[in-house]
Amino acid sequence: MSSWSVLRSIQNADRVNEHRVRKGVSRRIVRFAGPYRRDIAVFLLTVVLAAGIGVATPLLAGEVINAITAGGSGAAGAVVRIALVIAGLAVADALLSLAQRWYSARIGEGIILDLRTRVYDHVQRMPLQFFARTQTGALVSRLNNDVVGAQRAFTSTLSGVVSNVIQLALTAAVMFTLSWQITALSLLLLPVFIVPARRVGKRLAEITRESYDLDAKMNATMTERFNVSGALLVKLFGRPDNEAARFGERASRVRDIGVQQAMYSRTFFVAMLLVASLAQALTYGLGGWLAVRGNVSAGTVVTLALLLTRLYGPLTALSNVRVDVMSALVSFDRVFEVLDLKPGIAEKPDAVPVPAGSGRIEFRDVRFRYPSADQVSLATLEDVSTLDRTEQEEVLTGLDFTVEPGQMVALVGPSGAGKSTTSMLVSRVYDVTGGTVLVGGVDVRDATLESLRDTVGVVTQDSHLFHETIADNLRYARPGATEEQMWEALTGARIAALVRALPDGLDTVVGERGYRFSGGEKQRLAIARLLLKQPSIVILDEATAHLDSESEAAVQRALAEALRGRTALVIAHRLSTIREADQILVLDKGRIVERGRHEELIGAGGLYASLYRTQFTEAVI
Ligand SMILES: Nc1ncnc2c1ncn2[C@@H]1O[C@H](COP(=O)(O)OP(=O)(O)O)[C@@H](O)[C@H]1O
Ligand SMILES: [Mg+2]
Repeated sequence: MSSWSVLRSIQNADRVNEHRVRKGVSRRIVRFAGPYRRDIAVFLLTVVLAAGIGVATPLLAGEVINAITAGGSGAAGAVVRIALVIAGLAVADALLSLAQRWYSARIGEGIILDLRTRVYDHVQRMPLQFFARTQTGALVSRLNNDVVGAQRAFTSTLSGVVSNVIQLALTAAVMFTLSWQITALSLLLLPVFIVPARRVGKRLAEITRESYDLDAKMNATMTERFNVSGALLVKLFGRPDNEAARFGERASRVRDIGVQQAMYSRTFFVAMLLVASLAQALTYGLGGWLAVRGNVSAGTVVTLALLLTRLYGPLTALSNVRVDVMSALVSFDRVFEVLDLKPGIAEKPDAVPVPAGSGRIEFRDVRFRYPSADQVSLATLEDVSTLDRTEQEEVLTGLDFTVEPGQMVALVGPSGAGKSTTSMLVSRVYDVTGGTVLVGGVDVRDATLESLRDTVGVVTQDSHLFHETIADNLRYARPGATEEQMWEALTGARIAALVRALPDGLDTVVGERGYRFSGGEKQRLAIARLLLKQPSIVILDEATAHLDSESEAAVQRALAEALRGRTALVIAHRLSTIREADQILVLDKGRIVERGRHEELIGAGGLYASLYRTQFTEAVI
């Protein structure tokens, strides 16, 4: 399609420009536009028709003048007939403009939809590391601003290029045919305008980019400071004045930019209008002079003057098109950049399900290092110029152990030993970098994600509940759960009485702006969520670590229910739990240094014995 070649040529011209867009971006844009081929074709047709009408009307106006100056008996009738045609064209033009907007909006909004859903879907599949590193606000603004910016490539910029080129070509052709002398002269003023106009356009683009950046920064600040923990920190350290000052600084820069932007664009517009009006005056003067001498007709002068306004508009628009297209391409590129990030965990096409009810976990010489920053993130999302490439240290250096079905295995060790990391490898939050993790005899990398999630249930230190109703949160584990099943799970988790006492019961909204559950209550809700899923393997990562002893006791009772009849891998600090374990694995610096039962390990007098003295807390019940 010709429009694409226009775009490509512009982009090629810009390869030499300072803002480098990665190769192949325009090809990818074309692929994105593929589903809209027919809409685009119809849209282009309306553009051509509208350009035709735009030229026809001034021509007809000239005819009216000529009919008037010619006089004679038929003149009155001719004038009325022409006026009627002009009216008809005006109606057609109005309809065309509506159709044009309809199609361009459909194409533009459709592309926004595609990009947004693609990016959202992609981002949620990123490894956990990615979310730990990126600033949420920057990510959100990428999903909003850049997607919208990218869309402009299609609607305003691209359609602008096409319609302006067509309008310009048609108008110029007609004008030169009518009188090349007048046309040439009136175009003399153009360079006077275009050279500074390009400057202004470039500056405008720079300002716009800066304002995007600042917007993203303000967003990031707000999302960081306006959540409960951020707000609490500000209060505890008594820094609201500093925070306000910092925010005010950024916000006032946004104001300055807004003012500059307004003035630059108005200056641009006024200058264009002025030059077009001056050129029109020139046409009237020169054309009128020629008409009086009889070289051209009066109608031609009027036609030329009217056409002139249709010439300057597109010319100025096209003079800045490079910058527009560039910023649109940059936006697309920023979106593609996110789409190109390698997703974390993907299911193999020939994945097999973990056998239902599997209870066996096996680690074979498992090694693991966390991915380095440049593997999982983007510098532009972290507010840094380059990402760290240095390889992370190996966190697990060869783990071998088996948890037999129905067993409870306790994982103990000093902080930073790799216990949480080990637990995350079972549910495949990360993939091992060496060795194999098997669940139910299946390498987790060969298993379908759904069957793995169904088999393995996890409760961590700070369980997260979405800002939704209790029922919604529970159904997250099992979408089809009935109310009865939910009450059963809540009862098992020892939280049913509390939920029943709430005025809205299961429909109580949880979270920052909803009902605030205490840490222990949240843990028990998380356990209810896990019970609803009925996994055959349960992993507990210090599920009671952050609780006071009273709520710990309650959670402990709920956990006893959760563990009954299931295989369990428990990272614990409570002696009573560890004592009950069929096997204790003592982890230090990423390797198992001791294994056995409580008495044996105490007797051995190694790391376990010293942990026993210093870290393990006594039973509270
Ligand atoms: N997301 C992460 N990225 C990089 N390193 C990590 C990450 N999480 C943990 N680590 C490192 O891995 C090691 C083991 O951490 P972890 O498994 O959380 O230990 P534990 O749960 O035994 O306290 C620590 O040295 C820690 O700094
Ligand atoms: Mg941990």
